[in-house]
Order: sequence, then structure tokens, then C-alpha cells
Amino acid sequence: MPKDFISLADWSPDALREILARAAELKALWRKGERPQTLQGRSLAMFFEKPSLRTHVTFEAGMTQLGGHAILLRPEQVGIGTRESPADVATNLSRWVDGIVARTFSHHLVEELAAVAEIPVINGLTDLLHPCQVMADFQTVAERGRLDDAVIVYVGDGNNMANSLMLGASVLGLTLRLATPESHRPAVRLRKRAEELAAASGARISWTSDPHEAVRGADFVYTDVWTSMGQEDEQELRKRVFESYRIDRDLLAGAPDAWVMHCLPAHRGEEITDEVLDGPRSIVFDQAENRLHAQKAILERLLR
Ligand code: CP
Ligand code: NVA
Repeated sequence: MPKDFISLADWSPDALREILARAAELKALWRKGERPQTLQGRSLAMFFEKPSLRTHVTFEAGMTQLGGHAILLRPEQVGIGTRESPADVATNLSRWVDGIVARTFSHHLVEELAAVAEIPVINGLTDLLHPCQVMADFQTVAERGRLDDAVIVYVGDGNNMANSLMLGASVLGLTLRLATPESHRPAVRLRKRAEELAAASGARISWTSDPHEAVRGADFVYTDVWTSMGQEDEQELRKRVFESYRIDRDLLAGAPDAWVMHCLPAHRGEEITDEVLDGPRSIVFDQAENRLHAQKAILERLLR
């Protein structure tokens, strides 16, 4: 089993399915008022270079619910690369706490921390990947039907969410269609990795630039912001590039049975309309809810 949770591509299908099964179990226990104290006395350091509501709150509350404790570290407190090297930060934290969650711009920084840390490092989102979100998303899909049979369609930017959905679906042998502009497809290196994984798992990963074609027959239509954190300077350009990729009533008419997913936060009126996000087919808050339980399952797996 890998020490870290940085990319879903590092994990076996069996291990990911076990984590998903435990996430569902932890959610059921939570709803019955039961709080298994599986991480009593454990501590988690959470380093966030970017804003966060869901990831921060669900990791911190998750640790507390399992009997442990979480400590938020802001970049200005720690000064990685200015006050202290990533390696020295990782070595220090390894002497005190049982795990690290890191949300960084650079994916390489998370890998650097993990390479030196003697404790598990969990990717809380980088410019490249957001694996914890995908675990909650697959838990949410499984609540509405069989994950293995689901036709999941991602519409929008080939960003960290698209990359992670693609890798997760490739490991688990799922069906995923991506609809992005040609200019904003997931990175070639990740597409190659996904192809290798899909060859082993039987996953059906396909791509088109036509969102209307992509959503036909979809069980789940997923989108994310067109302008991710750190890309704010490109916002006006991106609005033009992605204009025809909006999830609205018209696009969804082509997928009459689909549930609508979004990792949040949403840029309402850009990639998704209010009507759809707040409508009866939206399961975005189930996804947000499941962050708590999916991550508790990941924490148990790595920190116990
Ligand atoms: N979906 C997600 O990761 O939300 P936050 O950026 O609020 O953590
Ligand atoms: N792609 C988005 C995801 C936010 C959870 C971002 O990186 O800002």
C-alpha cells in the first residue's frame, strides 16, 4: 500500500474500493450517531496555500470525529521555500504529527514533502490533481446506482478535477466521457497514464469537444469552474473559450436521466446556471457531504 494519497493512479482498484466501502459505512454510522474512535490521539497537520471551505472543514471535523486532532498551517506561518526548505518542514512535522494534508499550487511540492516525510502525505488539491474530491464523488455516484455501470460525463476545463476523475475512472474500470475544448484537454502525460491504467482495468475513457454529443445517455453530468484558483488573470479569456460548455437547461435536455455534479465552489452563471445547480437533479451537496466520510476512510487507512 502506498504511504501517501497523492494520485489515485498510485492506488490499486481493490484498495480504492475498500476505502469507498468504509466511507459508506462511516456515513451510515455517523447517521446513527455512532463515532468510532479509530484515530484517538492522532494529529494531522493541514497546510493550505489556497483557500478552502470543504477540504479544510471536512479534514478537521473528520479528525475530531475519529478521536484525533487537526492543526491548520498557513503558508505565511510556515514559509516553505523562504523560511525553511520543504524537506526540513516535512522532517519536522514527521517528528510531531501522524499525517499531513497539503493544498498547494505546485504538484511537485506535495511530492517533495511526501518524499521526505516519514508520515503519510495527503493531496488536498494541487494545480494537477484533487484525488480526495473524486473519492467523495464516486461514493456519491455509488449512492445513486452501480458505480461500475454509470456513464459519467465531465464537461468543461481539463483541469485538476478532470485529471483526477480520469485517473480514478481508469484505475477502477469505469466509463467516463470528457467534453473539453481541444485546447483544454487533460495533460498528455496524464492521458497516457490513464490509457495504461484503462488497458488493465477495462475502463472506457473517451473524449470529445462537443458537450451535446458527450451528455447523450449520461447518468451523471459533472462540471467544475472554468477558472481555477490561481488562474484569475485568465478569467475573461476563459469565459469566451468555455461559453458553449455551460451546464444549463438546454444542455441537460440531451441527458434527461442524468444527475448533476459539481465539486464546488461554483461560479454560478458561468459553468452552471442557478436553475440547474439548485434544481432537483443536482447532487452537489451530497458530494460535499461525502467529503467528510470519504476522507475519514482515507485517514483511517493511512494514519492508523
Ligand atoms: N471542492 C473543494 O475542494 O472545495 P474547497 O476548495 O472549498 O476545499
Ligand atoms: N478546479 C478547481 C477545483 C476547486 C475545488 C480549482 O482548482 O480551483
